[in-house]
Amino acid sequence: MGKVKVGIVGLGRLGRQHAENLAFRIPNCELLAVCSVIQDEVEQVQKEWDVKYAYTDYDEMLKNKELDAIFIASPSGFHCEQIEKALHAGFHVFSEKPLGLYLEEAVRVQEVVNNHPDKVFMIGFMRRYDRSYVYAKKKIEQGKIGDPVLVRCYGLDPAKAINGFMQFAKNNYSGGLFLDMAIHDLDLARWYLNAEAKQVWAIGGAYAYPEIAQLNDAETGAALVKFENNKMGIFVAGRNCAHGYHIETEIIGTKGTLRIGTTPDKNMVSVFDDNGVVKECSDGFLERFEQAYLSEAEEFISCIRENRQPSVTVEDGVLSTALGYACKESFETGELISVQS
Ligand code: NAI
Repeated sequence: MGKVKVGIVGLGRLGRQHAENLAFRIPNCELLAVCSVIQDEVEQVQKEWDVKYAYTDYDEMLKNKELDAIFIASPSGFHCEQIEKALHAGFHVFSEKPLGLYLEEAVRVQEVVNNHPDKVFMIGFMRRYDRSYVYAKKKIEQGKIGDPVLVRCYGLDPAKAINGFMQFAKNNYSGGLFLDMAIHDLDLARWYLNAEAKQVWAIGGAYAYPEIAQLNDAETGAALVKFENNKMGIFVAGRNCAHGYHIETEIIGTKGTLRIGTTPDKNMVSVFDDNGVVKECSDGFLERFEQAYLSEAEEFISCIRENRQPSVTVEDGVLSTALGYACKESFETGELISVQS
């Protein structure tokens, strides 16, 4: 097979990064088409990167039979519909997280994916492709910490990104803090514990940015999750982290503990000056997960070329959506929620 020809939909905060990876950093891939509802965005990328086709209408892009695969980085409310259309049109599909904003649409898409076993489908849980997270998984599989029984996660966006977030949230409904942000941690907990969630209690509020409450959302929230076999998950998610982008994960096992990103260092440099000794903090998702975004895209292209499916599945998308949705429901109702599965 020659180069895999990809069309991407969504050229926003993350879509542009994906597009750049597909265009320049994966030798067996060609970015053949770009699509966004914003004409200027599309024209700029097409001109700057010399992309052959540009569309402002997704359905038009799907008529292009030179393409092999569709990469979806549009707002979350469009994922399910766009996945279904792309599969029906005969393309391999990568979709950003979350799979859906509602369990019903995620389950429906799962059926469509399962009805197209000859097409590669991949969901963008990129942390599963981050070197440190992969290393931790290997340690668990080697039995280094015994049986993992508790996962504790912090997923905190930098306070200085709040304006960008407000714009993102106002432009399109994102599903809220738990479905939009904590979903990465919820997926990781399922992966590391090798267990599904049963019950959730989630709380939160809008403390520094009351305007987030007007979106019916939490600025900072916490969820306590009971998994199968009495395993535990503790999740803190937020949009108001003063020191930067703080993604931290701890896995406690019967014989030891693993921690990833205990201090969210930007790099290995310490600055010694009139502020003392300073380790700068990771700036945001594009910086922290640069390698993971590239690795997941490489895996998607390799799967197409090698006629196999990635290890992260549509079921992972559905089960994480179910858990994220249960967290949201618990936060909104104040009730202990049983997770549908
Ligand atoms: P954004 O709002 O910055 O960009 C959205 C893009 O989609 C824009 O180019 C917009 O013009 C385009 N668009 C909007 N409606 C469209 C439609 N109907 N058809 C075609 N294009 C359309 O959003 P951002 O932050 O780039 O997020 C996109 C997706 O990526 C979301 O689902 C989000 O959850 C996910 N995401 C995942 C991250 C991760 O770490 N895996 C990090 C950030 C976002």
